[in-house]
Amino acid sequence: MNGQQNPALEGRRTALVTGGARGLGAEICRQLAGQGLQVLVAARRREAAEEVCRAIGPAAVPLALDVTSAESVTEAVREALERFGTIDVLVNNAGVSLDGSRTALDLDDGILRATLDTNLVGAWRMAEAVVPGMVRAGYGRLVNVTSGYGSLALMDSGRHPTYRVSKTALNALTRMLAADLAGTGVLVNSADPGWTRTGMGGPAAPRGPELGADTPVWLATLPEGDTTTGGVFAERKPLPW
Ligand SMILES: NC(=O)c1ccc[n+]([C@@H]2O[C@H](COP(=O)([O-])OP(=O)(O)OC[C@H]3O[C@@H](n4cnc5c(N)ncnc54)[C@H](OP(=O)(O)O)[C@@H]3O)[C@@H](O)[C@H]2O)c1
Repeated sequence: MNGQQNPALEGRRTALVTGGARGLGAEICRQLAGQGLQVLVAARRREAAEEVCRAIGPAAVPLALDVTSAESVTEAVREALERFGTIDVLVNNAGVSLDGSRTALDLDDGILRATLDTNLVGAWRMAEAVVPGMVRAGYGRLVNVTSGYGSLALMDSGRHPTYRVSKTALNALTRMLAADLAGTGVLVNSADPGWTRTGMGGPAAPRGPELGADTPVWLATLPEGDTTTGGVFAERKPLPW
């Protein structure tokens, strides 16, 4: 990161959004900045993050982050805390969908490992690095961006098997962290954006990023005193999972 904190944003809540340089992540960054938060646009490609930050304005700063690298996670969180003191909001948005049209009986070991490493372990690494600071501060909002494909209640097909399993497991992580963090001021929830027009969702998806980002942003900005935690939500309503 370059430069100093914008004085006008001092004292504001700070949000870190993984995979913030495109798709839903970029829109989540834009909406959080619009609500007055200082936003760290975390991305593998720094130039892409810088471009998003230029479009958003001074409330957004780029941060280099690859969630599959423990070193990168440690360094990014260190940099963020050094600069802003706290990370009040973490949106684990970075995700991959690598299965194509595979089925559950057509397993590619490499795809399974790569998918879990980003969608589950990446989010877990981030939570492990960020949540202790939230607990010390007595405030935190952790949002894991999930999918209806991860819902056991909606598991009507084995297509996209590693993606589905990764999101089911991510929801379990949400539930475990929420239970362990009860009473700390840190709320942990999963948000399903719905099928959205992005690189992953493709051009046929019915929702635009603005709508897709709505539930993640809602959960990321739950007001002080709110007790919503351990849930999986779509369109701001509980999703059967
Ligand atoms: N679009 C949908 O219909 C839909 C539906 C349900 C859930 N979701 C979920 O929504 C989230 C965002 O998806 P999207 O639709 O915006 O997809 P996208 O356009 O493909 O964007 C994925 C983002 O994740 C980042 N990413 C991937 N691997 C990463 C890593 N190792 N470290 C850091 N960042 C990484 C990408 O960064 P690079 O630019 O560096 O590749 C990119 O910013 C995902 O978790 C996805 O599963 C999407």
